[in-house]
Amino acid sequence: MTETGRLLIVHGPNLNLLGTREPEIYGAETLEDINELCRSTAAERGFAVDTVQSNHEGELVDAIQAARGAQEGIVINPAAYTHTSVAIADALKAVDLPVIEVHLSNVHAREAFRQHSFVSPLASAVIAGAGSNGYRFAVEHLISLLEQQD
Ligand code: DQA
Repeated sequence: MTETGRLLIVHGPNLNLLGTREPEIYGAETLEDINELCRSTAAERGFAVDTVQSNHEGELVDAIQAARGAQEGIVINPAAYTHTSVAIADALKAVDLPVIEVHLSNVHAREAFRQHSFVSPLASAVIAGAGSNGYRFAVEHLISLLEQQD
């Protein structure tokens, strides 16, 4: 690879509050801690990351659409939009890039409404319940997939 590959890390609503939001469920690390973890994990493999967080569905759709041509793959924690957003799922399908879905908590051990994801059918892998490590695993796996494509 001659140029540095880029990954997009997408964080959905309320993840800006990480560190103070229900830390017994979502952990003590802040969103910036998680972004730094993604950056350092990617850098070890020669990749760069761009990060976006929004509480607004349309802004997330815009960021996903803009990934085509700008990034090679997407790690996404759609947060509550996981369970509701056809628009985010459609955008991910439209850009046709490899997608890894991450959840800090084990959504399958929680309320029934968290157990359906519109994103999972499009994802190459789904990581739930590993806390912030899940992002590290996601970045590593996404890079492995991209390297296999080359
Ligand atoms: C979450 C799980 C979702 O159900 C919830 O709405 C979130 C965070 C997680 O990372 O565990 O906001 O995606």
